[in-house]
Amino acid sequence: PLTLQANDGYKLWLQYYPIENAEDWMTDVFTDAKVNGSGETISIIKNELELASEGFFNKKTSFTESGSKLWIALKSELPANLASRSTEDLGEEGYHIFNANGQVIVTANTQFGLLYGTFRLLQQIQLLEPISEHGIVEIPKIQKRVLNHWDNLNRTVERGYSGFSIWNWHRLPRHIDQQYLDYARANASVGINGTAITNVNANALVLTPYYLEKAQALANAFRPYGIKVYLTARFSSPMEIGGLKTADPLDPEVQQWWKDKAKEIYDYIPDFGGFLVKADSEGQPGPHNYGRTQAEGANVLADAVKPFGGIVMWRAFVYSEHTPDDRHKQAYNEFVPIDGKFRDNVIVQVKNGAIDFQPREPFHPLFGAMPETPLMMEFQITQEYLGHDTHLAFLAPMYEEVLKEDTYVNGEGSEVAKVIDGSLHDYSMTAMAGVANIGTDRNWTGHHFHQANWYAYGKLAWNPYERSERIALDWIKLTFTSDPDFVNPVKEMMLRSHEMVVNYMTPLGIHHIMARSHHYGPGPWVTGGERADWTSTYYHNASEKGMGFDRTRARSNALEQYAPELQEKWGNLETVPEKFLLWFHHLPWDHQMKSGNILWDEMALHYQKGVDEARQNVKTWKKLENHVDRYRYEHVLSFLKIQAEEAQWWRDAVLLYFGQFSNRPLPEGVESPE
Ligand code: GCU
Repeated sequence: PLTLQANDGYKLWLQYYPIENAEDWMTDVFTDAKVNGSGETISIIKNELELASEGFFNKKTSFTESGSKLWIALKSELPANLASRSTEDLGEEGYHIFNANGQVIVTANTQFGLLYGTFRLLQQIQLLEPISEHGIVEIPKIQKRVLNHWDNLNRTVERGYSGFSIWNWHRLPRHIDQQYLDYARANASVGINGTAITNVNANALVLTPYYLEKAQALANAFRPYGIKVYLTARFSSPMEIGGLKTADPLDPEVQQWWKDKAKEIYDYIPDFGGFLVKADSEGQPGPHNYGRTQAEGANVLADAVKPFGGIVMWRAFVYSEHTPDDRHKQAYNEFVPIDGKFRDNVIVQVKNGAIDFQPREPFHPLFGAMPETPLMMEFQITQEYLGHDTHLAFLAPMYEEVLKEDTYVNGEGSEVAKVIDGSLHDYSMTAMAGVANIGTDRNWTGHHFHQANWYAYGKLAWNPYERSERIALDWIKLTFTSDPDFVNPVKEMMLRSHEMVVNYMTPLGIHHIMARSHHYGPGPWVTGGERADWTSTYYHNASEKGMGFDRTRARSNALEQYAPELQEKWGNLETVPEKFLLWFHHLPWDHQMKSGNILWDEMALHYQKGVDEARQNVKTWKKLENHVDRYRYEHVLSFLKIQAEEAQWWRDAVLLYFGQFSNRPLPEGVESPE
């Protein structure tokens, strides 16, 4: 039986577990440490040192006047000889850690930089990695690194699978739960500096004083961790909570209402980050209701928050069942013509792909297509279409794949990451959003391994060029152990897990064949209903003739939204990567694949491969039993078993369904459905 001390995963990647074989400097830093300054952020830094020292070495930290082993101080507080060693401009959030003749220095221009530097120092120690003389210089490549919580005011979480919302609105503002602080601390440890706390399918009530007071309490709790609060704004708020007859963005009364509302919000939260808006999408109100453009809609909110330094993150996830065009094309068609028409404090938030957080999508054609309007990336951390909480899918490789894709808009080397970090188009504002997978589950994220996706998102938002292998390695070591007998197999398992899920759900460019509405499990048969664009048949187009979505010139021509190089590459059956094959092409069942197999056989083999790997993961994990505490071992094991069973469910359901059309036997090596 488990004890109450069982590791329930609450401590995330900040385990600070005991270190054997530490180098001297790693223990020394806690024996003679000085942290300059005062205030809440400085207290957090000191507290973090104490926690780590207790955990690593079971020792108290000695804070001294001299700080001869560790000195954490703003650059402006360092003597010239030390300050001059830090030549790079660290900006508002960067830090420099270096070793000056046995004294470890953590420096930055701000206390938040010091906080990030402290977390990094402690990470280095847990990972048993050195601090060289030159040291570590880290400056975030993206300014606003934001979590999006799709949390409702009744504490349900849209597409949340880890319990309820951690925001307890009922107890707020008077009760600040420790979990809010632990949440902020975890975010700060990976450099996340903003949080949009409410669902994009917004409830206007959050902008009323009753809730603003509660949001203020959260903002106060997060502020010392360098985290700003954003709120989702329902476009029709002026009518719903303001008593106006319209929400037309060109109506002067509406404009005034937003200005007054912004002023009111800033009275509560002086450093309020701004609004996140979903408009004209999936039933949400928006400027279309008044015949206005997305820019006209965004600008009214932007003007309202501008005097206070706020921004508007306006989502490009705009599509409608009434638009006859391929859903893939709609956001591009809507936004490209208004490039440059947005206020300078608007950033357009674009999902990584043009449909909707599928296990695999080509990058969204808007990236690269709006040089005059800052665009930000929206990744989904919660696994709406990737098996929810129970299916292990390490998402860093998926994020990395998208960030590395070449848009070719300014010639070869115009990767999506360069759009996002602003370098390609010289954007003045940069940001990334991740739809959170956090809930009231004791381990925050349901699957213990899905903590890694929160962590990975933070790392890639800080540096979109970070490698997923590095992220996986660090996360495993920080969360479990550095023992290579554990680290290596687990790393392999994580790095292959996304592709594994793609294989048993949607290989070869297949997409959106999940069950209706909840999107858990297979549903290639989903048809009819109120919206064609929410059915599976819309996307796979299977018949006796074959399957796939023809997005070439012959049909929807979504391809024309990409650069000519990509039109050429992806439009051509010889050169299109097979992972995107059925995304862009409709092909007969006997289409010849590169392997020599026909399409049907190849597809079936992909499904089988996914099943095989999911089963293998159960075996791999079982061999690791002695390397991990019992609670986490059992928890992960039971989830891996669910995944293996459900991978088979996927394979059987999908192959039985498409088999009706292909009319072909399963190839050798593929198990017959039970
Ligand atoms: C998906 C998801 C919705 C969500 C929407 C969005 O369609 O299923 O729950 O509201 O994305 O991103 O706005």
